[in-house]
Amino acid sequence: MAKCFLFTVDSYVLEEIWRKESFVFLELEGFCMHYFITGGAGFIGSHLCEYLLEQGHRVSVLDNLSTGSMDNILHLKGNSLFSYEIDSVTNVPLLGKMVSECDIVIHLAAAVGVNLVVESPVQTIHTNVDGTEFVLKEANKKKKKVLIASTSEVYGKSNKIPFQEEDDLILGPPTKGRWSYACSKALDEFLALAYWREKKLPVVICRFFNTVGPRQTGRYGMVLPRFIKQALSNSPITVYGDGTQSRCFIYVGEVCKAIYSLTLEDKAVGEIYNIGSQEEITIADLAHRVRDKVGISTEIKYIPYHDAYTQGFEDMQRRVPCIKKIHQLLGFSPEMKLEQILDRMVDFIARFS
Ligand SMILES: NC(=O)c1ccc[n+]([C@@H]2O[C@H](COP(=O)([O-])OP(=O)(O)OC[C@H]3O[C@@H](n4cnc5c(N)ncnc54)[C@H](O)[C@@H]3O)[C@@H](O)[C@H]2O)c1
Repeated sequence: MAKCFLFTVDSYVLEEIWRKESFVFLELEGFCMHYFITGGAGFIGSHLCEYLLEQGHRVSVLDNLSTGSMDNILHLKGNSLFSYEIDSVTNVPLLGKMVSECDIVIHLAAAVGVNLVVESPVQTIHTNVDGTEFVLKEANKKKKKVLIASTSEVYGKSNKIPFQEEDDLILGPPTKGRWSYACSKALDEFLALAYWREKKLPVVICRFFNTVGPRQTGRYGMVLPRFIKQALSNSPITVYGDGTQSRCFIYVGEVCKAIYSLTLEDKAVGEIYNIGSQEEITIADLAHRVRDKVGISTEIKYIPYHDAYTQGFEDMQRRVPCIKKIHQLLGFSPEMKLEQILDRMVDFIARFS
């Protein structure tokens, strides 16, 4: 456990201490923990850093800034409980050092976003498979608890709605590059659970569904920030496909809360949890909602998948999580409605881009 030094304590404790030595700090075991976040300069990672620091914990970050940004964590630099290294999780000596210094690892670093996955399949597989293997291997040396970020994409083409953790994963063929992301994350899950079963490494797997909020960028294919940016600049809002595909959007702050609670709960170890909202909306409706929210009358343009991505691109038609499992364990269910999320994101993107 990390060591914390407190300066404000009950007066009788202070008296005791001052009697023994004039320069003594009170060291409390287990009061604060040291979280190590890979991909901590990314969208979810940077919010998680803030959240954990607010809870009084120490946070260190390893990020190569491939899709993350220093801007996401600049405001944390002055905090003495915060530190970071700009490097890759594939730098194993550094990774090993950072793992050995922490209490809990949260592994978020990954190649993400449909654009990136379709355009750079080698990087996707290398980062997502090798990176996770390195993290698990290093964590196993000191038996550090690891929370692994997975994705709703692993449910693939399943049409059994809502998706439950024990459901079959129905992935498309390797000839269609977009499935490499889902497949690499599914392999991460297998590997993590293998470490738990075979080596008793405590692992927790989170399958995030579409997570949104300030600092998310549309650059790598994330739909909501892209729509908002297009609307704010009075450009056509571009919907890929016919817009009947649907998604559920959860606010990043709620995801951080769920992640944190899972790290503290022993019963979560060796388990997979969906984390997402159940408020479903089609992408065409989302485009209209964004347009109304921004208050403009720009065109909504439908672009066939083969023009937006590659010939034969396959999308997931619906993605709705069953959240019974995490609710039963933690009492967790998202509270923020899409309306409120849109308000926050439009406001943020209008101010900062
Ligand atoms: N945002 C979502 O809706 C969503 C949904 C499902 C799963 N996830 C998962 O959550 C995690 C975080 O995603 P995000 O949305 O914050 O994306 P993000 O791109 O903002 O965060 C990923 C971070 O990992 C970093 N990174 C990539 N390769 C690295 C490497 N080799 N070494 C060190 N750092 C590296 C990037 O620079 C970035 O900061 C990812 O594992 C992603 O697969 C996110």
